[in-house]
Amino acid sequence: MSAAQYLSEGREFIDAAICRYLPEETSYPESIHKSMLYSVLAGGKRLRPVLVIAAAEAVGGDRQHVLPFSVATEFVHTYTLIHDDLPALDNDDLRRGKPTNHKVFGEAIAILTGDALLTQAFYLMTHTGLMDSVPEKCLLRAAHDMTSALGTSGMIGGQVVDIESEGKPIDAETLEYIHAHKTGQLIQACIRGGAILSQATSAQLSALSTYGAHIGLAFQIIDDILDLTADESQLGKDVGSDLDKEKATYPALYGLEDSKKKAEQLVEEGIACLEIFDERADPLREIGRFFVQRTF
Ligand code: IPE
Ligand code: IPE
Ligand code: MG
Ligand code: MG
Ligand code: MG
Repeated sequence: MSAAQYLSEGREFIDAAICRYLPEETSYPESIHKSMLYSVLAGGKRLRPVLVIAAAEAVGGDRQHVLPFSVATEFVHTYTLIHDDLPALDNDDLRRGKPTNHKVFGEAIAILTGDALLTQAFYLMTHTGLMDSVPEKCLLRAAHDMTSALGTSGMIGGQVVDIESEGKPIDAETLEYIHAHKTGQLIQACIRGGAILSQATSAQLSALSTYGAHIGLAFQIIDDILDLTADESQLGKDVGSDLDKEKATYPALYGLEDSKKKAEQLVEEGIACLEIFDERADPLREIGRFFVQRTF
């Protein structure tokens, strides 16, 4: 199966389930629930939940067993997007083809929506009743792993250095730190999560972790490239946003062509880490390739 097929089927699988794991729009207080649904259902490629599933399947796991955790990663991701777009951070107007959350609901509700999605994510990730075929110690480990990926040693750390580096010349090491942390860590934690819940061996988990770090960094390099080269209507978010804010990006430091080469090389190295796996890891191999070929 091609990456495009696996991703679109995976996306449908997630989208069919996602509303089950969110409070209804009509629940009091309605404004926050409307806002959560607005951003989650605005679209999105659903790459992180699909990576949870692909990693679970690579080690012989079952996608149904990891579904709540998988959906939770999309809530985490959507929270990072809502906060990333806020006026105090990237101050963007367009996300997933629609006005950003704060443009519609105001900053206070947008901040609280991010907080609510993050909280809902951990409610799901630690819900033993919803994932009763997964050993509790695996649930605990995957959720604990996720906190490291999201905290100051992970995504938040990357976002802090991203913001603090605006308008400043930065070195290659700092740039790699920003990208690996603000984006790479969550992607890696999704892959690790699917594998941990499916009782991967330590050799499998270590290979998947290295694969995840490589494709996670490559994903953000391509995101930087698309900010300069993509079509806004296809990308569904503001283009040229990084230039406006003098962000630290790969194209700014290395140029477009060398950035693309770096991303391609990272993906090849990542895929090479999967040699201990059989064809059940083919979707992960294909998704890696999709990460650098994507146009949105
Ligand atoms: C965008 O992620 C933000 C980054 C971490 C680069 P995606 O490109 O996966 O966004 P959606 O989920 O498809 O909207
Ligand atoms: C986003 O990086 C990383 C997180 C949301 C944690 P960007 O700021 O480059 O993402 P986009 O381009 O706004 O989606
Ligand atoms: Mg940002
Ligand atoms: Mg941004
Ligand atoms: Mg970007």
